Amino acid sequence: MPVDFLEFPSNDYFHPVTIGSLRVRGNLFFAPMAGYTDHITRALGYFGGADVCMTEMISAEGLARHNSTSGRLLTRYSPGLFSQSPDSDTMLGSFLSSFREEPLYVQLFAAGPEALIKAAEILNTTYRPSIVDLNCGCPMPKICRFGAGAALMRNPALIGEMIKALKSVLECPVTVKIRSGYSQGSLSYPRVIEQALIAGVDAITLHPRTQDQGYSGNADWSCIRHAVQIVGGNIPLIGNGDLNSPQDAKRMLEETGCDGLMFARTAVKNPEIFHTAKSFLCSRSVGSRPDAIEYARAHLKLAVDWYGERLGSTTMKKRLAAYVSGLPGSAELRKQLVTAPDSATMSALLARIQD
Ligand SMILES: Cc1cc2nc3c(=O)[nH]c(=O)nc-3n(C[C@H](O)[C@H](O)[C@H](O)COP(=O)(O)O)c2cc1C
Repeated sequence: MPVDFLEFPSNDYFHPVTIGSLRVRGNLFFAPMAGYTDHITRALGYFGGADVCMTEMISAEGLARHNSTSGRLLTRYSPGLFSQSPDSDTMLGSFLSSFREEPLYVQLFAAGPEALIKAAEILNTTYRPSIVDLNCGCPMPKICRFGAGAALMRNPALIGEMIKALKSVLECPVTVKIRSGYSQGSLSYPRVIEQALIAGVDAITLHPRTQDQGYSGNADWSCIRHAVQIVGGNIPLIGNGDLNSPQDAKRMLEETGCDGLMFARTAVKNPEIFHTAKSFLCSRSVGSRPDAIEYARAHLKLAVDWYGERLGSTTMKKRLAAYVSGLPGSAELRKQLVTAPDSATMSALLARIQD
């Protein structure tokens, strides 16, 4: 059965974007998030209205060495992966029973071009992604110490070489996700953008926090406005950071002039944010849509099926706690969910709220 996506009319805010040879149907992106954006979360994101969802960051070296973790992170969602298909009598279940992930947007991290070249060859032959992104934003010490992630913001020329290496091998467009700099005293994004453009990058996402900020403090959207000016309309510039509501989405587009928006922490709590944002940007109703509990129940079922009872129920604790945050009585419910002994208890707790 073909998968129906809700259609929205294009306007100055919501519109398709062209990334190299790929035309993406809209400009609302689901961010890469390590430990979160696996194939199941991405499928839920697509159902929630995301126009494109990225994998979490994957080690280019690991992929080049055929490491099994890297391979698993490249799993493309399809219903055939699961032993039981989700209930197809709901809108969400019916989507999950027929959706096949397309496009596949892969994010790689590496410290230099060599590993990227080998990883790109494997991507071409085995995984055939539609777009590949280079991570220049991860602030974690274990990644930065090895010279990857946000550490690259200290070396704009190396980022240029890495993009060139990917472009020389990959058969798909290449993008880069950057921070504003490594530290407040060295905002290197203008030089990084220049080098990325020279290297032929097809789109840039800017998360305007520095490495030393991690995920705290505010994202400085004035850097996004400046980045839009530097890019000069030659390729899409996607803004990211502190997009927590449809109103934020409109404000970022108006204040910065960016071409697209990338939602992160808000989208893992509420995948419907993409539809509510589109509805707001296009002044059009989306009709009746599943609530957070319905997402949570479907997510739990698929996660336990794919990861097994032990790993699935453990990793779902933080996810379910996020889905229910903001609901009446959520503090008590979160406590019950994170102390639940198994997935059947979690499922019963969720069913009780829905009834
Ligand atoms: C738990 C977590 C994991 C993340 N993993 C990645 C990642 O794998 N690759 C990446 O480029 N950014 C990663 N990020 C950064 C997000 O993609 C995004 O840039 C950041 O959260 C800012 O957006 P927000 O303010 O909307 O959350 C991660 C963020 C969090 C909180």
